[in-house]
Amino acid sequence: LYVIHIAAEMAPVAKVGGLGDVVAGLGKALQKRGHLVEIVLPKYDCMQYDRIRDLRVLDVVVESYFDGQLFKNKIWVGTVEGLPVYFIEPHHPNKFFWRGEFYGEHDDFKRFSFFSRAALELLLQAGKKPDIIHCHDWQTAFVAPLYWDLYAPKGLNSARICFTCHNFEYQGTAPAAELASCGLDVHQLNRPDRMQDNSAHDRVNPVKGGVVFSNIVTTVSPTYAQEVRTAEGGKGLHSTLNFHSKKFIGILNGIDTDAWNPATDTFLEVQYTANDLQGKAENKEAMRRHLGLSSADVRKPLLGCITRLVPQKGVHLIRHAIYRTLELGGQFVLLGSSPVPHIQREFESIAHQFQNHDDIRLILKYDESLSHYIYAASDMLIIPSIFEPCGLTQLIAMRYGSVPIARKTGGLNDSVFDIDDDTIPLQFRNGFTFLNPDEQSVNNALERAFNLYKNNPEKWQQLVQNDMNIDFSWDSSAAHYEELYAKSVARARATNR
Ligand code: ADP
Ligand code: GLC
Repeated sequence: LYVIHIAAEMAPVAKVGGLGDVVAGLGKALQKRGHLVEIVLPKYDCMQYDRIRDLRVLDVVVESYFDGQLFKNKIWVGTVEGLPVYFIEPHHPNKFFWRGEFYGEHDDFKRFSFFSRAALELLLQAGKKPDIIHCHDWQTAFVAPLYWDLYAPKGLNSARICFTCHNFEYQGTAPAAELASCGLDVHQLNRPDRMQDNSAHDRVNPVKGGVVFSNIVTTVSPTYAQEVRTAEGGKGLHSTLNFHSKKFIGILNGIDTDAWNPATDTFLEVQYTANDLQGKAENKEAMRRHLGLSSADVRKPLLGCITRLVPQKGVHLIRHAIYRTLELGGQFVLLGSSPVPHIQREFESIAHQFQNHDDIRLILKYDESLSHYIYAASDMLIIPSIFEPCGLTQLIAMRYGSVPIARKTGGLNDSVFDIDDDTIPLQFRNGFTFLNPDEQSVNNALERAFNLYKNNPEKWQQLVQNDMNIDFSWDSSAAHYEELYAKSVARARATNR
């Protein structure tokens, strides 16, 4: 199959969170399975250009429509993680991707509806005939209605559209009139069965458009797929998802096991494997030194947390876990940053409070290399999310032998199984879980984890080794996507569409 992903993120060059990891990881896994995979991204000024190989300008200029005019786009191509990536650089006076950041701009709706249309225009003008166009999250969900309204009729008609929603919290709604900028017909689309937002009739909802107009709709874990079909979990889209349930499925993400591999990871002080955990202990020691944490007690448990600090992630429970870890005699390292100013300020003040403390460090920024180091150095990683579509940090943590302590929700519920849960076969139990999003439940899980760590080192070591040996690679999830793609293509051929 020929698969083109159109996305707003791709690790490691343009990554804000897990979306970037998935675009790269799924793309690589599909390529390994013999498919032709290409990626289309905006050419952001703030990308990590040193991770792009052979970047060059193509000898074509792609013109795309926006706000009643045609704009020229310079097209760059390069290789990221072995995948061919096209980067679109618009010559638009608003400098859409020249803002020093990926998201969070006042005109994000315009920026990404522009990008979605320019990406389709690139495929058309370059004569590409993909079997599957796979778009991700609200930023590129515009691709689905644009494709059926404008591009299938223009001849780009070989493709089936797959839309993956990684998080239904972010729907990108905007006043209906804004849809006209990228050439979509506001009158046709601002209808309850199309893109009209389910709770504001003068607004359009790109995620709803992605769901309605795609052939395949996925989200990133089976439990989350169930949750979003309920009124409590669907963020207003549960009725739409139930209506389209036949084409909607939850597939658990994998992780890129080449990028996340403690045996080869050059960000670490020492590489290590499940059979030789001495290296893990040395990373813990080195990181303590690096961050100025006390090294007096080798057996003091080190709890890590690596996250965007947004309400979804249970920030009040993270804060509570910091204090409780201290009371229980452990060490805590947080790596996280927040786009929400009052949350960022709150954690800055906690960081300040503990700046000279021997056992707590809060590092309030995005830092890829430090994240690798913390996965390797920590004994446990806490993920107390209020909701979590998939979550990758628990999977990465296990790969590095850091035992997850997680709330049972979404993808965490599909990947972390409590060590004390008799209903789960022993060989699948891999961490500590709790159900209620409250301090009591966090305490209980933390206490059980600390007890096992301190009082039963052999059992702990076995748990660490089990976790490191679990297969969280993309193999089985990519096979699932492949099957969905193939079925959809076959159905289209059978009906001659
Ligand atoms: P989300 O996409 O909701 O943020 P995920 O668990 O799916 O959550 O993915 C988070 C990804 O971002 C992981 O690869 C994690 O290591 C990384 N990450 C999160 N915060 C930071 C940070 N402050 N510095 C470096 N990497 C981070
Ligand atoms: C979103 C979700 C996260 C998921 C990631 C990748 O950012 O919040 O749970 O792991 O997308 O699919």
